[in-house]
Formats: sequence, structure tokens, C-alpha cells
Amino acid sequence: MAYTLITGGSQGLGFELAKCFADDGIDLILCARNQDRLNTAAAYLKEKYGVDVKTAAIDLSEKDAAERLHEECGDKKISHLVNNAGIGFLGEARRIPKEKDEQLIALNITALTGLTKLFLSDMLAAGSGTILNVASTGAFVPGPYIASYYASKAYVLSYTEALAQETAGSSVKVCCLCPGPVRTSFYGKSGQTAPFYAMDAEKCARYAYRKMKEGETLIIPGVLNRLSRHLPAGLSARFIGKMKSGQLKDKKDG
Ligand SMILES: NC(=O)c1ccc[n+]([C@@H]2O[C@H](COP(=O)([O-])OP(=O)(O)OC[C@H]3O[C@@H](n4cnc5c(N)ncnc54)[C@H](OP(=O)(O)O)[C@@H]3O)[C@@H](O)[C@H]2O)c1
Repeated sequence: MAYTLITGGSQGLGFELAKCFADDGIDLILCARNQDRLNTAAAYLKEKYGVDVKTAAIDLSEKDAAERLHEECGDKKISHLVNNAGIGFLGEARRIPKEKDEQLIALNITALTGLTKLFLSDMLAAGSGTILNVASTGAFVPGPYIASYYASKAYVLSYTEALAQETAGSSVKVCCLCPGPVRTSFYGKSGQTAPFYAMDAEKCARYAYRKMKEGETLIIPGVLNRLSRHLPAGLSARFIGKMKSGQLKDKKDG
């Protein structure tokens, strides 16, 4: 029996992606920190789609978390790994506590890299598999007032595109999802406000899932998001800086 492992699968984009896999009859392992939310998500998916859903309550920003999650999967065959869990913080880079940046780097970069290494090796040995790493359109440009988040997503995109080349012609597919703004709890948690044009999470996940199955390496939901990749980075960074500094000011005033 093969499973799809989704980090951050208890809510938001990860949960919507879980629904897509479950709808295809694929069993799941969901990883996040909060066990109650994991249980609620698992119960829903089991009930609605009749698939097996296991949960792993692990804080992926802790040391050696990737190894612990890999161990927790035991000898279950992982056919798909979705490295989706991620966090971001709005604020002036120099004022964001060092611990917060370290947590972000540990989750968005270190855990994703560790999990990719471990499961890519398993998949190559098994002769099949897919890894979907979740970056962001923030990967395309510098992000003033959300600098470490955008920088971490630039890492995810670059790392994933490099691995896609390394594995080209093998039995394993490595691809990267770069969503623009999506309506999830990410915005509240990161101190931001979702723009009016933010995409519905279910729509974003469905598009990503379809493109992953079609074998696309770089998946960017939304025409404007696809176009944004081709704008001059300096211009985009100035626009983002203005927007985020405005949000930061509203947050302080509010
Ligand atoms: N929303 C957007 O506009 C947007 C746009 C582009 C890219 N993305 C990316 O999409 C991915 C999913 O974001 P989302 O919007 O769905 O966020 P979300 O609604 O905040 O969901 C985040 C998920 O990650 C889990 N998580 C957070 N910290 C974790 C940790 N230390 N260890 C393990 N699990 C952890 C959360 O569960 P627990 O809190 O229980 O751990 C939750 O299941 C992220 O990588 C994000 O950067 C989002």
C-alpha cells in the first residue's frame, strides 16, 4: 500500500491537496504539530473518501525532525511527498527576533531539504515517486518587510529546480508549486492581510494537483502569477515593499 506524505496537511493548502489525493483513492500521512487538528482532518478525509489516513504530530522546525518523520513512516511506501508546511513573518528584517528567523529557516529550508533527501533516495530505490515542494511567487523576487520568507522560498524554488534536473530521466519526478496569495490562515499567522485577489485554496490545490500529475516541473496557479515571474525583479520588489510596509503600518496603528 502506497501513501502520500503531506507536511502541513492539517489545514490550508496542505489539507486541500490532501483532498485531491484522497479523491484519487490514495492513502495519506499528514504531518503537523497540532494533534487535534490532525485528527479532525484525518477523520474528515477517511469519512468522505474512504482512504486510510495516518497522522504524525511533529514540529518540523526542531532538530532532526526530518529523520524522525522518515522513521515514523517506517516501511510504508511513500509514493508522493508534499513538502508544504511553511511559515512567514511580516516585519522589518532587523526587528524580527533571531529565534523567529531560525524557526522559519528550520521549517521552510532545513526540514524540506532533509525530507527531500531521505524520500528521494527511497523513491529512486523503489523505482517510482513524486516530490512536490511548495515555494511561492515570493521566490521570484526579494521581499522587503517579509525578507526571510521570500528568501526561503527562493531557496525552495532553486533547490527544487536543480533536483528536477538531477532526476530528469529517472523514475522520480520532482516539481515545485509557486502559488501567489491564497486565502488560508497563513495570512493571520504571518501578520499580513490577504489581498482581495487572493486565490481560493481549493482552486489552487486542484490546479497544482492536476499539473503535478501532468508532469509539470514549475507549477504557478493563476495567469497573473505566471506573468509576474517575467516582471523586472527590482520593480516587483519596490511594489512589494510599498504594499508590505503599508500592511506593517496598519498593523502597528491597529
Ligand atoms: N497562503 C498563501 O498565500 C501562500 C502563498 C504562497 C505559498 N504558500 C505556502 O503554502 C504552504 C502552506 O501554507 P498555508 O497558506 O496553507 O498555511 P497554513 O494555513 O498556515 O497551514 C500551515 C500548515 O503547516 C503546519 N505547520 C506549521 N508549522 C509547522 C511546523 N513547525 N511543523 C510541522 N507543521 C507545521 C500547520 O499545522 P500546525 O500549526 O498544527 O503545525 C498547518 O497544517 C506554505 O509553505 C506557504 O509558505 C502560501
